[in-house]
Amino acid sequence: MDSDPKVFVFDEVAKHNHQRDCWLIISGKVYDVTPFLEEHPGGDEVLLLAAEKDATDDFENVGHSLSAIEQMEKYYIGNVDMSTVPKPIDYRLAASQSVKATTSSAESSGSLLTLLQILVPLLIMGVAFYLQFYGKKQ
Ligand code: HEM
Repeated sequence: MDSDPKVFVFDEVAKHNHQRDCWLIISGKVYDVTPFLEEHPGGDEVLLLAAEKDATDDFENVGHSLSAIEQMEKYYIGNVDMSTVPKPIDYRLAASQSVKATTSSAESSGSLLTLLQILVPLLIMGVAFYLQFYGKKQ
């Protein structure tokens, strides 16, 4: 019998975030890993830390074996509505944006310097010219 999988919203899944009740979101699917916490070869702490967020990257970064992926099915309880899941912060993107901001402020202070490098000698030449001309007359 194949019934439609249950679809959870993120807030509902996020409530299950402790030792006696722990659900994970991996690749849009929800897993109740409560009975697996103590058995998990990577320890229960990493699983608890992976609750209350999209744990897909955490799971994939470990490079779990095929047998680990097969084991997951035992704990599958439904899907999550991905539009309700907060996007993870992309620190690389944030860092590159702050580099861009620094670069553009450096670029604008660089163009001010170029302008001053042209204006200051012009000003000095102007003063020298004035003094040469009008200084002699008096
Ligand atoms: C239902 C979800 C999960 C299952 C069934 C599972 C299963 C397993 C299994 C069977 C292993 C032994 C190594 C292997 O066969 O790949 C393992 C290792 C490990 N897992 Fe998970 N895991 C799950 C989720 C997670 C999550 C979300 C994290 C978060 C980072 C995680 C972190 C680790 C770590 C750090 C190891 C140890 C790797 C090592 O010592 O080489 N696992 N897991």
